[in-house]
Amino acid sequence: MAWARTNGWSAGPFRGIRDRVVVASKFGIVRKKEDPAFRGICGRPDYVRQSCEASLKRLGVDVIDLYYIHRVDKTIPIEDTMGAMADLAAEGKVRYLGISEAGPATIRRAHAVHPLSALQTEYSLWSRDPEDQLLPLLRELGIGFVPYSPIGRGFLSGAIKSPEHLASDDFRRSQPRLKGDNFKKNSVFVKKLAAVAAAKGALPPNCLWHGCSPRVRTSSHPRNHPAQAPRGECRCCRSGADPGGTRAD
Ligand SMILES: NC(=O)c1ccc[n+]([C@@H]2O[C@H](COP(=O)([O-])OP(=O)(O)OC[C@H]3O[C@@H](n4cnc5c(N)ncnc54)[C@H](OP(=O)(O)O)[C@@H]3O)[C@@H](O)[C@H]2O)c1
Repeated sequence: MAWARTNGWSAGPFRGIRDRVVVASKFGIVRKKEDPAFRGICGRPDYVRQSCEASLKRLGVDVIDLYYIHRVDKTIPIEDTMGAMADLAAEGKVRYLGISEAGPATIRRAHAVHPLSALQTEYSLWSRDPEDQLLPLLRELGIGFVPYSPIGRGFLSGAIKSPEHLASDDFRRSQPRLKGDNFKKNSVFVKKLAAVAAAKGALPPNCLWHGCSPRVRTSSHPRNHPAQAPRGECRCCRSGADPGGTRAD
């Protein structure tokens, strides 16, 4: 929805193509017009409903296919937030429920209220934390995984040669991994990745496809879409391996 707001979508962007797209949206990060830097978190049931109604209106759809909790509100029980989402599902306003950046205990509690279909969390060659506890839990509970920033916000593509390469207002300039010495240290890693990709006759982002586990799909960026590779064939090594998909995509 942030994209929709920024780009000034008018109601009905999916008119004529609704049956060919999966609409996913999130709620939970609260902003203030008078203070653009402000980021609050809210999971109150009344806010969940209000956010969903507003998204349906802005998107011009009757139902959102996948509706996520963007950030868990630690000031109220997750059961209350999920209860409000379950009500929206029962009313047909959303089809599947998701959660973003939640820990294992919260996922279990949320899933007990209503089945979760997706967890969205950062996952890439430099953010492998989900492998320890989250991915096994998702397999156990049958929840799909949507890895965000699979190309490390563009850095793992090798296209960002120095911090100065980024525009002065690019938020990535404030990311600790892309600052000063960290940038230099991480660039060594990107060069190694580029060498692996070159040996396979591929570009680094294509290799990241294969770096992920078989049931994980990388970003929705058009250049990384599997439709660009022959069906059943890996874009990276043409091995015939199917990169697979998640329940959410
Ligand atoms: N749940 C959350 O809290 C959360 C947090 C962050 C992000 N997200 C979501 O995750 C999604 C992706 O995030 P992200 O933008 O950080 O992902 P990313 O895929 O790691 O990075 C995107 C960047 O990679 C570049 N890129 C993509 N394919 C490339 C290619 N083949 N060659 C060279 N560069 C390539 C893009 O370049 P161009 O600029 O040229 O297109 C863009 O700058 C978004 O939908 C976002 O909303 C979710």
